[in-house]
Amino acid sequence: MSNTQIPVGIDAIAIATTHFELPLVELAQATDVPVGKYHVGLGQVHMSVPAPDEDAVSLGADALSKLLPATGTEGVRSLFFATESSVDQSKSAGVYLHSLLDLPQNIRTVEFKEACYGGTAALQAALALVARNPEERVIVVAADVARYAVDSSGEPTQGAGAVAMMVSANPRLLEIEPTSGVYTRDINDFWRPNDSTTPYVLGHLSMDAYMDALVGAWDDYAARTGTATTDLARFVHHQPFGKMARKAHRRLMEHAGDTRGDEVIEAGLLYGRDIGNTYTAALYIGLSSLLANEEEDLTGQRLGLFSYGSGAVAEFFVGSPVAGYRDRLRETGADRLAVEAMLGARVSLSFPLYRALHAAVRKDSEDYETPAETKGPFRFAGVKDRVRIYTPTGQAGAGA
Ligand code: COA
Repeated sequence: MSNTQIPVGIDAIAIATTHFELPLVELAQATDVPVGKYHVGLGQVHMSVPAPDEDAVSLGADALSKLLPATGTEGVRSLFFATESSVDQSKSAGVYLHSLLDLPQNIRTVEFKEACYGGTAALQAALALVARNPEERVIVVAADVARYAVDSSGEPTQGAGAVAMMVSANPRLLEIEPTSGVYTRDINDFWRPNDSTTPYVLGHLSMDAYMDALVGAWDDYAARTGTATTDLARFVHHQPFGKMARKAHRRLMEHAGDTRGDEVIEAGLLYGRDIGNTYTAALYIGLSSLLANEEEDLTGQRLGLFSYGSGAVAEFFVGSPVAGYRDRLRETGADRLAVEAMLGARVSLSFPLYRALHAAVRKDSEDYETPAETKGPFRFAGVKDRVRIYTPTGQAGAGA
């Protein structure tokens, strides 16, 4: 019973993104849309675009390679990989990371899926395992390529990236409280059938479903804990695009009778604005953005975290930064300067090149090789005998 008293949470976090990016002004000009719709209407400025030799596995491996020098692997007995950009229907993407990062053999490796909520499912499972065996640690990787059909309303919200987190007892970054508010409702707002590389999306329905889920998860959380929104200093809401988080926040504040506005979410929106949607990773990239960019010292303050996955599943939970959390971010390159350097090192695409890359994505498993483009530490080299091949590039990775 006393295990619940041991603080558990995120001991360290690292972020990775792609080799390329598209300034949304390029997309706006080429498709004859006022750029204000993207910059202000959606709250997005750039989107990360994967090279042909990048995918959820290579991005996840990149993030994990930044994490491990700061954490080591002692006591790690589980690796959870969350994604909705899965590369195989059977094998966990995490198993590729296990060999690429040369992890110890006595580890359970599993993939989690429930749209953008999958990262939180993996994190909560990790927290529960650590609470039960506090000497163990769990690696959680959330990685996605958010790829929508061209000329769809979701196209400007695309993006790609990954986070890797070490979950442990007595964490050095963020302690996470044991009680959550949870929510499930069967709704077809966004889904991707097995034969499609892009999702089917009812965009406006998904926005309503997201906000209903926020209220539902919050009410469950408040009923179970007696917490008021005013007890929470900042919020990070899942961010498929920045405006979604702003709308959701307004809805929650109205619902709770809290008069605070965007000042309590602003710092968490900065990284996502220039990366785009990263599905399972988006909430945690937002968390990193808040921790790195908020002027005020957040040590010991309670932060509200909201995770949403279409379909739909949601969770509201609370974490508190630990003393020295900014130093901890620096150890994994998740501080502001290092992330800015990583984002600035991406190669900007023109609209025709971006569309050519979009069209070149393959979903078959015939033999092929990919051109060597990524500057990340690992690359997807192609398919041989129906097996996906991942190899080290010998490079440390941009911003690492
Ligand atoms: N300058 C400033 N703002 C502008 C503008 C301009 N020139 N033109 C339009 N806008 C604003 C609109 O007023 C709107 O803001 P509001 O919602 O605050 O009123 C915003 O830009 C978006 O316009 P809208 O017409 O609603 O966009 P859309 O229908 O083309 O696409 C989504 C919006 C969300 C449907 C689309 O991005 C999508 O499908 N995304 C993927 C699904 C998703 O992420 N869902 C979220 C929950 S998971």
